[in-house]
Amino acid sequence: MSMTLAIIGGTGLSRMDGLSITRREMVKTPFGAPSCPLSFGTLGEVPVVYLARHGSSQRIPPHRINYCANLWALKSVGVTHILATSAVGGITEECTPGTIVIPDQLIDYTQGRESSFSDASAENWQHVDFSWPYDEALRQSLITGAASVSSTNCVETGCYAAMQGPRFETAAEIRRLAGEGNTIVGMTGMPEAVLARELEIAYASCAVVVNRAAGLAGAKLDLESMKASTTAGMLKVSEVLTAAVATLK
Ligand code: HPA
Repeated sequence: MSMTLAIIGGTGLSRMDGLSITRREMVKTPFGAPSCPLSFGTLGEVPVVYLARHGSSQRIPPHRINYCANLWALKSVGVTHILATSAVGGITEECTPGTIVIPDQLIDYTQGRESSFSDASAENWQHVDFSWPYDEALRQSLITGAASVSSTNCVETGCYAAMQGPRFETAAEIRRLAGEGNTIVGMTGMPEAVLARELEIAYASCAVVVNRAAGLAGAKLDLESMKASTTAGMLKVSEVLTAAVATLK
């Protein structure tokens, strides 16, 4: 398979263990600036392009990320495949903190985000098929990667609820998301996934649960323990990604 692989790092993964960077480049796009310069290097022995979704210093909130610029920048340097990471809340019972989830579906609950390259002024706009939003071969690489990382619980399918944020959900919203078949909840999965699809870039997501979603633990969300879970979770995600990309060589 001929591929140029990118990793989009989410919360807690502004830098990645095992990633050696040889060059950085700020790419200009018709949609403005991406979150940060693209980093070119290798993960293990595999060449990768790395982008920190929230910016190099993790300051850009989920609803302010320029997803169009990020995806366009990656496409313009020849990226064909993307592994995206994110920290999420767990909705179903098996999704306890520390669990890795490789979603195979999503529901988009975001509002007011630029969610297509086919805006009103684009002449050659098109519908895209999005029945299965994640690339199955990339998903399998992440599942294989997770299986090789010791003491890692991996949920191999699930539905990602993309919420607007930056606030967390109410307990009632989580009850509704559970009723609608969602497994995990996060704030950055869309429009990233569909913009990749529009650009014909294969895309899959490696999520790590950092908290039980609002209301499910019977207490308010504990933001301090979420931070600690995110730090620990992203170490695990780095290992999963390193193992996953080795299978894609
Ligand atoms: N909800 C939405 N996004 C999140 C959560 C959550 O509970 N945890 C981490 N990202």
